[in-house]
Amino acid sequence: MTLMAAPAPRKILVTSALPYANGSLHLGHLLEQVQTDIWVRFQKSRGHHCIYICADDAHGTAIMLTAEKLGISAQQQIDSIKQEHLRDSTGFLIGFDNFHTTHSEENRFWCEAIYQRLKENNHIATRTITQAFDPEKQLFLADRFIKGTCPRCKTEDQYGDNCEACGATYSPMELINPVSAISGAKPIEKESTHLFFKLPEFEAMLKEWLNSNTLQPQVANKLREWTEAGLQEWDISRDAPYFGFEIPGEPGKYFYVWLDAPIGYIASFQHYCDRTGHDFEPYWTLGTDTELYHFIGKDIINFHGLFWPAMLQSAGLRAPTAVYAHGFLTVNGNKMSKSRGTFIKASTYLEHLDAEYLRYYFAAKLSASIDDIDLNLEDFIQRVNSDIVGKVVNIASRCAGFLRNSFDSQLAPSCAEHALVQDFIAKGSAIAELYEQREFNKAMREILALADKANQYIDEKKPWVLAKQDGTEQQVHDVCSVGINLFRVLMTYLKPVLPAMAEKAETFLNCSLDWTALESPLTGHQLATFVPLLTRIDSKKVEALIEASKDSQAAEVALSNETDNAPAQVSTIEFDDFAKIDLRIVEIIAAEHVEGADKLLRLTLSLDAEGTPAGRRQVLAGIKSAYQPEDLVGKLTVMVANLAPRKMRFGLSEGMVLAAGPGGKDIFLLEPHAGATPGMQVK
Ligand code: MSP
Ligand code: ZN
Repeated sequence: MTLMAAPAPRKILVTSALPYANGSLHLGHLLEQVQTDIWVRFQKSRGHHCIYICADDAHGTAIMLTAEKLGISAQQQIDSIKQEHLRDSTGFLIGFDNFHTTHSEENRFWCEAIYQRLKENNHIATRTITQAFDPEKQLFLADRFIKGTCPRCKTEDQYGDNCEACGATYSPMELINPVSAISGAKPIEKESTHLFFKLPEFEAMLKEWLNSNTLQPQVANKLREWTEAGLQEWDISRDAPYFGFEIPGEPGKYFYVWLDAPIGYIASFQHYCDRTGHDFEPYWTLGTDTELYHFIGKDIINFHGLFWPAMLQSAGLRAPTAVYAHGFLTVNGNKMSKSRGTFIKASTYLEHLDAEYLRYYFAAKLSASIDDIDLNLEDFIQRVNSDIVGKVVNIASRCAGFLRNSFDSQLAPSCAEHALVQDFIAKGSAIAELYEQREFNKAMREILALADKANQYIDEKKPWVLAKQDGTEQQVHDVCSVGINLFRVLMTYLKPVLPAMAEKAETFLNCSLDWTALESPLTGHQLATFVPLLTRIDSKKVEALIEASKDSQAAEVALSNETDNAPAQVSTIEFDDFAKIDLRIVEIIAAEHVEGADKLLRLTLSLDAEGTPAGRRQVLAGIKSAYQPEDLVGKLTVMVANLAPRKMRFGLSEGMVLAAGPGGKDIFLLEPHAGATPGMQVK
């Protein structure tokens, strides 16, 4: 063996975007945190010095209004949400080194310091602008807080920045009949002085940054649309009342939440350093040899790819080494939906399923691109059960029994398949490169191909046959010892994704799974008792999760966040899709409460006028808040008759009835004209 000096460990600082403190974490947030966490754990496993920082994004109008609605102070709101966020992230095994809040003294200090530098560099402009103002609430209204009729397609109830029906963009005062989404009052126009960050002065620097290959190609292209359209000065102030930091020397004016949020990365790191005595300076100074990475969603690339690097430059601080954007999470091919039960809160997931199932599934789907990631629930169950339980865990469980029964759980004194084990170890550098590049899906594919190879080896050697023969004792010992060694290598590679399972494997293997120590097979090594590592996903639990997500979410009114560029998500179906829906008139022949269900009524519907048993369908409908069962009997309504039956927690549902309304008491079941007869097709 030749002795080589190990390369010096890298010094890496990593962040996930700071979740807003006005709502619970959902699986979309967890997609990002899991991606970041896997990458951080991977770096740590390779012996690098890596620190993972996050915080809650605590400022802004939305948070102020949420607190007001709940009848608590903003401080109480952000304190309790911070606890909740940290609890949920921890439940998903997210290993933050520090989780802070932007409403902190460290952040106030850094916001003021950076603002001071921007001002000294003459990068702050002051101008008077006219804005929509809620005369009742005495509050300037961000575009997202104004609703009205789209001036182009006349669709009602659209936000003040763009129309979800036709995609038009406009300024809020162009809406027909604009109203404040907060008070319902008609907004007036009012003047106010605002502070602006002079982004256009950074045009050359930003163009260079966009061409420097630091950003993903899709992200750089998107941001080039901004530079090419001409950069605008960026409004960084908001008028009182606003929950945030007052701007020094500007009474009644506050830093816009998006100015102080990224500075929150610095502040959280400062808090970490103060807490642990870690060095602060080298991570933020120009010309440093440390690395800085921001993991974010594709909706916030302008803040991280334009405004943030420009601010850092003006303040004389280092630029990020890279910004890593990911796509959005969809569930079963669609945007997460409260009514379908696919808007899944992190805490609801954890009440039903193991975090590592989802960590593995996300890893199996994540890549370095910004394409959306779909959580297909069927595929989720199938993939986790077959890959992790069926393939990886299986290797250990097949071998452990023989080793325990005949060899006191001790591995053979020498390795019978040195080349095979070395081959597994040699694959480590390619797998490491895939982790490094965030090509987790490819890494999982490589690891699973090795798992297949290990199972093949055991299948060929058939220790269960050998064990019944005479004189083959050593062979059984050899085969099972090789199997355990292969398992050890695989679990080392999977450890960043499955840290809890890896810990159990470490107990069983009686050694730590250390990537940098994978050099040769374990021989003559004593194992501990085998413990179940991960059990199969029970599909009933997934169904229960979806049911529970329907219950807990429908009543929740979420105030939209203040992101300026929230993408309008318009999804359409083709006519062919529509034509597949078989809509039929039905008579409600029975209706009753469903024991234990908050929202459901059990309807018995008749599809034929005679009411024959063959024409009956049972439907569980979420209309309990709006209807008394006895008032429904005898009414006609419309059902989707060809919907595949679904087993729900409270029984089988064989279709759906059509209703509309915002929820609560306001749900209106479609009631056809009395002349209609059950069974008629609706055209
Ligand atoms: N507070 C800002 C970030 C400030 S960073 C200085 C914010 N908060 S957020 O709570 O709306 O989102 C936090 C992160 O979660 C963002 O990176 C966002 O892209 C990501 N996601 C939110 N919903 C998501 C999905 N449905 N799918 C994937 N990621 C999603 O933006
Ligand atoms: Zn429109």
